[in-house]
Amino acid sequence: MSSISGGSRWHWRAWRNAANWRALSKAVDGFHRDFGPQGGELLLFGCSAGWMLQTAWLQSFSSIIAVDLDPLAKHLFRLRHPGLKQLAWHQGNALDTLDALLIAHPQAAIYFDNMLGQQALIELHELKASDKDLALLEKSLSQLPQRLRGRFWGSLHDRVSGPVRMPSSEFKRYVHQPLSHRSPRAQPNAQLVRWLSEVEALQAHGEWLDHLTSGVFHADNPRVYLLWPFAPQYWHWLEMAWVKPSTDTLG
Ligand SMILES: C[S@@+](CC[C@H](N)C(=O)[O-])C[C@H]1O[C@@H](n2cnc3c(N)ncnc32)[C@H](O)[C@@H]1O
Repeated sequence: MSSISGGSRWHWRAWRNAANWRALSKAVDGFHRDFGPQGGELLLFGCSAGWMLQTAWLQSFSSIIAVDLDPLAKHLFRLRHPGLKQLAWHQGNALDTLDALLIAHPQAAIYFDNMLGQQALIELHELKASDKDLALLEKSLSQLPQRLRGRFWGSLHDRVSGPVRMPSSEFKRYVHQPLSHRSPRAQPNAQLVRWLSEVEALQAHGEWLDHLTSGVFHADNPRVYLLWPFAPQYWHWLEMAWVKPSTDTLG
């Protein structure tokens, strides 16, 4: 069980910030509706209690198989998202069980719900990872497109995150209208940091964390970047895309 990534601390934070994160989760839902699967089977990884998911989208699936490390997530997810047609829950490591689940559910779409960028945090804070471990993690994340070849899959994940200063009135503005950039291809971290300097009244400072997810999608896969005002003093650049089986032969 990871306490830096999930668990009671995450549930408390997500519950308390629900109003501040509403606009972002609506933007995410719009992206799922425009580009994601609607119906069939869904393998849903790292979803916690589904704080950033809308029940109506989940209800479109005939069956959902959810996997999270967090033992609390199952009950809270069921409470938050009633009326799902079929929901199976596994407590465990989704990356370790990925290949077995793909074999067991050959037609299922796959969604990594803000968990891939958490692996760097877990490695750094809980496993005291070395540079070599982090390089291995980055490499294994960049191998996902191969492992998922032929499948309809998507991910929302952190790319970089770090400390900011911003007057609270301006913070509210971005909370209600999070900044987003559609991009036909991958953007390097340096570009994400440059975009920060375009945000009025935002002052990024200190060290920004690279979540090691820049290779999760093939470079030519279209995607959206969302600037998440996670907390008044700490923001994240999220990256999100859906990969269709017909377009995953790139790279
Ligand atoms: C930042 S939270 C996001 C949770 C959820 N997507 C939401 O919006 O509320 C990350 C979640 O991923 C889970 N997680 C992290 N690494 C995981 C792994 N390897 N396998 C399964 N779940 C994982 C954590 O337990 C946590 O619930």
